[in-house]
Amino acid sequence: MIISPVFLDAYRVLLLGSGAREHAMAQAMASSPRCQRLWVHPGNAGTEAWALDQPLDWRDTSQLADFVVRNGIQLLVVGPEEPLVKGLVDHCRQHPLLQNLLIVGPDAHGAMLEGSKDFSKAFMQRHGIPTARARTFHAAQRVEAEAYVQQHAMPVVLKADGLAAGKGVLICNTPQEALDGLSQFWTEQKFGEAGAKVLVEEFLDGIECSVFALCDGKDYVLLPTAKDYKRVGEGDTGLNTGGMGAVSPPPFATHELMERIEERIVRPTLHGLRSEGIDYRGFLFVGIMKVGEDPKVIEYNVRMGDPETEAVLPRIKNDFLEVLIAAASGRLRGLELLVDPRFAVTTVVCSGGYPGDLQLGYPMAGLTERDCAEDERLFHAGTKREGSVCVNRGGRVVAATVLDRDLKEAARRSLALAKEIRFEGAFCRTDLGQDL
Ligand code: AMP
Ligand code: GLY
Repeated sequence: MIISPVFLDAYRVLLLGSGAREHAMAQAMASSPRCQRLWVHPGNAGTEAWALDQPLDWRDTSQLADFVVRNGIQLLVVGPEEPLVKGLVDHCRQHPLLQNLLIVGPDAHGAMLEGSKDFSKAFMQRHGIPTARARTFHAAQRVEAEAYVQQHAMPVVLKADGLAAGKGVLICNTPQEALDGLSQFWTEQKFGEAGAKVLVEEFLDGIECSVFALCDGKDYVLLPTAKDYKRVGEGDTGLNTGGMGAVSPPPFATHELMERIEERIVRPTLHGLRSEGIDYRGFLFVGIMKVGEDPKVIEYNVRMGDPETEAVLPRIKNDFLEVLIAAASGRLRGLELLVDPRFAVTTVVCSGGYPGDLQLGYPMAGLTERDCAEDERLFHAGTKREGSVCVNRGGRVVAATVLDRDLKEAARRSLALAKEIRFEGAFCRTDLGQDL
């Protein structure tokens, strides 16, 4: 493909994913003067302006590589973890026609930080990174595992080693619950292959936050920090979800805490990756538990958080596409992030039944007819266009973000914005930020 010289400095970009995270990233990239053309796949009703005009199985790496070659794509941004864990980046790196493709996202080895909790725990232990104590057991070691959990301090945490779409963590309050938990992994096989190995982990009592480093293989920039609300019910009750909302920054993420996190966790992690020969270019999402004044790692993810992205990106004032190009090409050094000092609160509007059996396919009102003000954003997640209407097609449907100098006001206005989105069964949490 021949690209016009006028566009030599402008980029053709493919973004993979279909959540509100990707809608937020797409908006941020599309607003850059360096964005010549953007494709978002599989996308949602909010990203349809950037949809592909042909079918493409995004899980098929050969089809994807062909698409990238045929369309002269120069930058590939991978939203979710699954393609990274499955080796999409390695496939592209080995492809003779994709040697110049810039990629935001680590290779399969780096992605093991998220893809295997056993790998990430051992990595942290090797590099002296503070985390909960844990031991890993295989299904074949069941008798030993049962004896171990029964003498463990309560609560105890059981974690599937592999990817379990955020559902593979059980917090057990009694030895009996822990034994029942092991049965869920090994008798009922609820998490399939991902639960063949189980980590039995010390419970960390504290407050959680999500820290994001964008890495270029050598250097990194910290993006704004956020707090995610994971439980479905008011007051952090009920089942775990992908995330019901987010606040950025959480006021407890002070300068001192962030310095401690960089010094004890972020820098040793990147140093560890390099020392193990991993050229990590992409987002590193560190789930932190602040225990007293000490930050400890709960988990690594190799992508941005959702819904955290919907609160974090609206606060970044840089040209986001330029920031991503710098990361993918190893040129982050010296880059300074300009961050809006206002609070961002994101409220997620969910389908009835979420996170259980979903009530889907209802026409939605309040979404397309609304022009957002400078300090408001509406991001689509599980939405689909059907003729002239949008219907809900996933658990998390829309993310409503508001920026405001006052945290309580940002939360109040984010909830009001979320409530403008109406469809049968829609609900959201109404208490975000009230604990801060
Ligand atoms: P993960 O899938 O590792 O993010 O775990 C899901 C959620 O379980 C986390 O966001 C925490 O709220 C909780 N969790 C995981 N590990 C621990 C732990 N060791 N102590 C306390 N809570 C935990
Ligand atoms: N909101 C947590 C996550 O994206 O994993």
